[in-house]
Amino acid sequence: MPKVISIINLKGGVGKTTLAVALGEFLSLLHGLKVLIIDTDPQTNATVALMDEKEWKRRNVKGQTLLGIFKDVVDKYQVFSPAEAIVKGVSNIAGGIENLHLLPSSLDLIEFQEEFLYKAHNHEEIFKPSLLQERLQEVLPSYDIVLIDCPPDLGFITRNGLYMSDYYLIPVIPDILSTYGIPQIISRVEKLKKRTGTVIEPLGIVVSKFRVQSSVHKSQLSLLRARAREVGYQRVFETVISENNRSAAVMDFHHSFNRLEEKYGYPYQKPYAEYKSLAEEVLAYV
Ligand SMILES: Nc1ncnc2c1ncn2[C@@H]1O[C@H](COP(=O)(O)OP(=O)(O)O)[C@@H](O)[C@H]1O
Ligand SMILES: [Mg+2]
Repeated sequence: MPKVISIINLKGGVGKTTLAVALGEFLSLLHGLKVLIIDTDPQTNATVALMDEKEWKRRNVKGQTLLGIFKDVVDKYQVFSPAEAIVKGVSNIAGGIENLHLLPSSLDLIEFQEEFLYKAHNHEEIFKPSLLQERLQEVLPSYDIVLIDCPPDLGFITRNGLYMSDYYLIPVIPDILSTYGIPQIISRVEKLKKRTGTVIEPLGIVVSKFRVQSSVHKSQLSLLRARAREVGYQRVFETVISENNRSAAVMDFHHSFNRLEEKYGYPYQKPYAEYKSLAEEVLAYV
């Protein structure tokens, strides 16, 4: 079975999606691993960074996105098929990476979640956090790693992602506001674990958008390292992802690259070396 890692933070804009995409690309291309990225965010950022938008819309109409899993419960049909919904060979590197696959999200998830709250009492089943895992069961054994890009909340879709995860990884910008929410993430995951009897381990914190000139960033980084055990997030990864212009640009699917090195700026820019060593660190702990 694959190692399943949720990338989670209750804050938006901390680099969750950028990290999910980069880890997926580095682990598949440099380590030859078969990787599935599951986009559980209704904002669909990972989806549009990794696949062609027309192809995505075509699949959305046919119910073959993440939304299909939850819609099937309400509609009492079995339309969603993991084999059909999972897009193979995604990314804007070399026309797609054979070993990197994506379960796309859907923009219609936002409306679905809103409407759903009204109908929910008829569909207890949809709140089962095991739904996502059950629907993907038949395809999961063929992957080495599954990365789940979460929205900035702990709604029922995120809970489904966490339920099937072995680990959760928390990207954090090392400023005071961003580090403030960490204990809350941990306590809520602990609650979910108790309630559902599942095992999810904290994999650690990845510091992102780090500014070496910032004294706040430097002091928060030391504090985060010192408090890992006490707060319960296990560790801060040695590799820190610096703030850089590349990371902001790489999320554009229309911009195609021949090689991983070209996309992440090796050897002149930092992100390549940082993501490479982060991917190695992650593999050492899972
Ligand atoms: N290391 C980085 N340096 C500079 N900008 C970054 C970095 N990582 C991400 N970004 C940018 O920050 C914004 C939020 O990143 P994103 O990965 O979408 O965060 P989240 O998924 O947590 O909301 C995006 O515009 C992204 O391009
Ligand atoms: Mg995101």
